[in-house]
Amino acid sequence: MNINKNYLNLEQSYLFSTVAKKVVDYCAKNPDKKIIRMGIGDVTLPLCKTVVQAMHKAVDEMGIQETFRGYGPEQGYEFLQNAIKRYYKKRNVELAISEIFISDGAKSDLGNILDLFSTDNVVLVPDPVYPVYVDTNIMAGRKVLFANANSNNGFLPMPDEISQKVDIIYICSPNNPTGAVYNKEQLDAWVKYAQKSNSIILFDAAYESFISDEKLPRSIFEIDGAKDCAIEFCSLSKTAGFTGTRCGYTIVPNELENLNKFWLRRQTTKFNGVPYIIQRGAESVFSEEGQKEIRENIEYYKENAKIISKTLDRCKIWYTGGKHSPYIWLKCPENRTSWEFFDYLLEKIQVVGTPGSGFGKNGEGYFRLTSFNSRENTVEAMQRFESLFGTK
Ligand code: MLT
Repeated sequence: MNINKNYLNLEQSYLFSTVAKKVVDYCAKNPDKKIIRMGIGDVTLPLCKTVVQAMHKAVDEMGIQETFRGYGPEQGYEFLQNAIKRYYKKRNVELAISEIFISDGAKSDLGNILDLFSTDNVVLVPDPVYPVYVDTNIMAGRKVLFANANSNNGFLPMPDEISQKVDIIYICSPNNPTGAVYNKEQLDAWVKYAQKSNSIILFDAAYESFISDEKLPRSIFEIDGAKDCAIEFCSLSKTAGFTGTRCGYTIVPNELENLNKFWLRRQTTKFNGVPYIIQRGAESVFSEEGQKEIRENIEYYKENAKIISKTLDRCKIWYTGGKHSPYIWLKCPENRTSWEFFDYLLEKIQVVGTPGSGFGKNGEGYFRLTSFNSRENTVEAMQRFESLFGTK
């Protein structure tokens, strides 16, 4: 038996597991300290009322002979696909039901989609970015190249900076971790590049609902021609507080004939779908009432982001993001490395963030804070922050 030795090329543990382990160790040594977690992007507000009601109703249906359901349709229930189709239509994107695949979240699909591509494809990943793109390709043994994102290009690398032929291009907009968002012209340049070079864009739209400027694209399919060269991944995790509930969707255009067929083949073989109860909850997110309620939650997190930003302004710490994203990306004060800053904050004020270097080498010297904590904790964390950096 030969094991997949590519795993030996990975960092020893996944970024957020390393952070969690450090916090557990600190808590064990300092049981009396109150930790405030602004590391992993996990939501804190409960599911909204409309979603809970929809799921309760679905639970009741499952307990009655006439409305009980076993295995669901392979790509997801049409009621949810239709709700997603209507959601895209509001932005003038036409989708066919056969293009919409319901999943248990963007992370799994972003990894699983790689089953469809040959391992000799060359991959382009922005640096810094969500570490799952790199790790899943390393697991498969693919060659990964990086597109430099930095303060000079507003953390938005463009295709004219690519020096060699690539086959698979990852774009995350709004970007995790920097919060940078591509505008239509910039995404258009990527679509044109992908068409010309016969490559595919894997577009991660997990944070689309945080975009507050109507002119900014929330889907790659708002760009002409994108259906010929892009697959989009989205999730209700951050949009509607589904991090623990698990539901997302992936759009594989019919124009990508083989990929659409192969994805269906792959999913029907390896995945049994999202539970009926969850899909009913997800459907209700797209209802008028559901949209109103999730908007309130998103605005709550955005207010937290403002509190963080204002504190950093007062402390004269450079940052970006937080406007169209739940993440604030800051420069570590006093030239600390990302992990030094992580340890310093944990030790001094018991605030947990995510070291920028965990998102790529260009993230070194940066640090990510999330706005997903409660108002009370965000305010307290920022008071602690200010007491540490405010007078400098
Ligand atoms: C993050 O903190 O970057 C995200 O929560 C990770 C994820 O969505 O898997």
